Amino acid sequence: MNPLNHVAIIMDGNGRWGLKYKKSRNAGHKAGLISVEKIIKESIKRNIKFLTLYAFSTENWKRPKKEINYLFNLLENFLAKKLNKLNNQNIKLNILGTKNFSKKLNFLLKTAEKKTLNNTGLQINLALNYGSKTEIIDAFKKINKNKKKITEKNLITYLHTKDMPDPELLIRTGNTKRLSNFLLWQLAYAEIFFVKKLWPDFNEADYLKVIKEFQSIKRNFGNI
Ligand code: FPP
Repeated sequence: MNPLNHVAIIMDGNGRWGLKYKKSRNAGHKAGLISVEKIIKESIKRNIKFLTLYAFSTENWKRPKKEINYLFNLLENFLAKKLNKLNNQNIKLNILGTKNFSKKLNFLLKTAEKKTLNNTGLQINLALNYGSKTEIIDAFKKINKNKKKITEKNLITYLHTKDMPDPELLIRTGNTKRLSNFLLWQLAYAEIFFVKKLWPDFNEADYLKVIKEFQSIKRNFGNI
């Protein structure tokens, strides 16, 4: 059976779901949060060590202010309400990306990271204001600044994902087949699953189906 330590997810389709069922994109984000909770629970059950969720990309700033504010409010409320529960579940929360949000959200994110720092269960990496190209360029700049040799080993120590294995599995919901500037370096050998369902419709059974299929793949890593 293929080891599965790290699952990465592009949670796509909230906006379309919201428009389809509630005539509002934001309602889709709200519903998407319920899927997030389902997938966290199932990841713990499956003993997955790292779950990386693409919640807001550097390109998402192009969206209408109203939608951006709604998303950040949702996140603030989620952290305010659920941080203790996450902590009690031994979850470690880690932010991938640059924290340049409102003072309040920056504070909540830092507090959440600090509070859960020593937890040893599932690590949730929330990719927020994250862009993979910027991450890679910044890593090269740091190599240069520290006068290190450009090697794979040195480069990965400057990525946001240092100290964790690369994802073995990437899931993208929403019937779209692209990577959208997500973990371009780290996904070099990931198995990629594009799922037709919109993120708010994605549930534990869909997740398990993907995991089962992943387990059945013969992973060669260039070998035969
Ligand atoms: C992509 O769907 C989704 C996002 C940009 C935001 C993801 C947010 C959530 C799942 C809920 C909030 C999560 C947390 C952790 C607070 P889209 O809006 O691009 O969908 P579309 O392709 O249908 O427009």
